[in-house]
Amino acid sequence: MPIIFDSEKKIFKLDTLNSSYIFEIYNESYLVHLYYGKKIPDYNLKDFPNRRMFASFSASNPHMDDWVFSADVFPLEIGCNGCGDMRISSLQIRNADGNASTDMRYVSHKIYKGKPALKGLPALYENEEGECETLEVTTRDCVTGAEALLLYTVFEKYSAITRSVIVKNTSDKPFSIEKVMSFNLDMNGKDFDLITLYGRHNNERNFERRPLSHGRQGIGSRRGSSSAQQNPFMALLRHGATEDYGDAYGFNLVYSCNHLCEIEVDFNNSSRVMMGIDPSDFSWKLAPGEEFYSPEAVLVYSDEGLGGMSRTFHKLYNNNLVRGPWKKAKRPLLINNWEGTYFDFDDDKLFDIAKWAKETGIEMLVMDDGWFGKRNDDTCALGDWEVNEDKLRGGIGSLVSRIKGLGLKFGIWYEPEMISPDSDLFRAHPDWHIHVPGRESSIGRHQYVIDMTRQDVRDYLFNKISEVLRNNDIDYVKWDFNRNITEAGSAILPPERQSEFFHRFILGTYELMGRILEAYPHILLENCSGGGGRYDPGMMYFSPQIWCSDNTDALSRVDIQFGSSLCYPASVQGAHVSASRRSGYETKRNVAMWGSFGYELDPGKISEEARAEIKTQIADYHKYYDLIHYGDLYRIISPWDDPYRVAWEFVSEDKREAMLTVVIKFFTEARNFFIKLKGLDSEKYYKCLEDGEVYSGALLMNAGISMFYYPDRDGESFALHFEEVK
Ligand code: DGJ
Repeated sequence: MPIIFDSEKKIFKLDTLNSSYIFEIYNESYLVHLYYGKKIPDYNLKDFPNRRMFASFSASNPHMDDWVFSADVFPLEIGCNGCGDMRISSLQIRNADGNASTDMRYVSHKIYKGKPALKGLPALYENEEGECETLEVTTRDCVTGAEALLLYTVFEKYSAITRSVIVKNTSDKPFSIEKVMSFNLDMNGKDFDLITLYGRHNNERNFERRPLSHGRQGIGSRRGSSSAQQNPFMALLRHGATEDYGDAYGFNLVYSCNHLCEIEVDFNNSSRVMMGIDPSDFSWKLAPGEEFYSPEAVLVYSDEGLGGMSRTFHKLYNNNLVRGPWKKAKRPLLINNWEGTYFDFDDDKLFDIAKWAKETGIEMLVMDDGWFGKRNDDTCALGDWEVNEDKLRGGIGSLVSRIKGLGLKFGIWYEPEMISPDSDLFRAHPDWHIHVPGRESSIGRHQYVIDMTRQDVRDYLFNKISEVLRNNDIDYVKWDFNRNITEAGSAILPPERQSEFFHRFILGTYELMGRILEAYPHILLENCSGGGGRYDPGMMYFSPQIWCSDNTDALSRVDIQFGSSLCYPASVQGAHVSASRRSGYETKRNVAMWGSFGYELDPGKISEEARAEIKTQIADYHKYYDLIHYGDLYRIISPWDDPYRVAWEFVSEDKREAMLTVVIKFFTEARNFFIKLKGLDSEKYYKCLEDGEVYSGALLMNAGISMFYYPDRDGESFALHFEEVK
């Protein structure tokens, strides 16, 4: 039983394979957090939150018969605003009478098998009955009648817990939710480092580690997307914990819009952690009887450092987040024409690329931006989702049959959430773009964002996309999103609901994605947002692979892939070989193999030698597909530890196979070094396919492989494959 409730001691204990999460009902009312960390068998933790914490001048509820209690100092499962808890709140409600005080107390709880769906929102799911167990705790503010249901679902075998909150209005007056975070976790102590992933277009998900300090800290996005600037992920590592050892707590929000990941270290050295919708431009009016679902957050604990935490996220997301027929099916090896042609293509050009692709062993052609309306550059036509017959003579149908005639699959690009001011759609429906009356709308990449909160807009988009998908044998859709949202407002929302705009926007996007996939379930959806600007688990629920970055230069890309790997599995990572500047095709291939592999070039513009080399690369993609997509990732040398070289390794679950890849970013004289592999079976023997030698797992992991004989110049790389021998 992963969840138990001791009715005498009033303690909840949520166990996974490696972790325990424990809290109590204190004095019949407050939910007091006791412990989250490495699995423990018992829960004799009554004094764990130091009950004699310094609380003088901290306010206390007059009816608490315990003089030491104050909501300001006790670790709590929900942090409410205005009733004694002076730390950052995880729930703030503006009541009908205008004040913003809320005091949620325990009312009841339920423990049940399975996991409830979250209305309108992407969320992890269970595959078979009994895989998960859920604890639902109802809390209530007795003055206003507001209720908050705290949901905890335990994924026992992955050491993961998902958390979310449902706010209900059980009163007879409306109120507004001003802040609702998906979880509140008051950790004992402040001896942690915070790890986050910052970046920008072309340079997403850089690793940053810093110690917690007193006061507030955190990251977030207010861009209308989860953003390239700050991914909705954070980890807390115990001081001294490393890639392989020590306590690591990972937190990830299943959401693709504005988010806040916040921590406050208080005067008692307790660290309050929370994650949820960014409250700064948010409020949600809740009428009597209505309820509001927060997005879900995923909490992972590992005592095997950052590496253990990452591998847990990877397995969990491969099994319980990614869905549909492409979840485990082998994805087609694709060629995308974007970097090869940009807007300058026609049907014959695409057919030429496809012919070469077919000869080379590539399985799908993806036609990128520029096939519709008058779109010959990025200044116009988004929204005019009708084929440009000057480019594709005979329409999409004719091109698709030509490509299918070669035996290739076919994919198409869309950017549904956008509208160009220079488009027939905008001329017909100027109020469909996101705007604020009387204020000039900012422009980003010459485009506006379309109002996804509107049902008529979503219906229009569904019908337009459907016309193409219904009438043509299309296998894949690339769904792009290339600007941030500004002047956020909808022509159809009343003034008191304009602050619901951002959340309604993403609910609209999720609804449209879901509707398209329901109507065309065979479609492989690849999400993209100017590269990896919406590289988040919300999108992964719809999109089994996501374009990781527009930066396809292998030596830059490898850093982005390392950052992404903290939380996201290789299977979702769209990674292509392109004709980009630095490094040869071997390195481009070695780097792009760490993901859902493909090409992005015009074969007519690369050398004969490069074309010949590409032909040799394809077999490896097939051979190592499962190892890379579903094996365990070990980061051996990470870019945040070594500026010269990086190395990573995939090990199959049965430990019979492994692949080590090393990329030399810059030559260094210190080249007589050994790389120690990880995750092998020390009892097994492995043959290295490249040097033909046999090594024990113990040797490979403890003595390592000398790098002296392998390439070592700037931009060079190599991969070594190990297979078990009996
Ligand atoms: C941005 C994407 O990241 C690129 O791959 C490409 O699809 C362009 N948009 C097209 O406009």
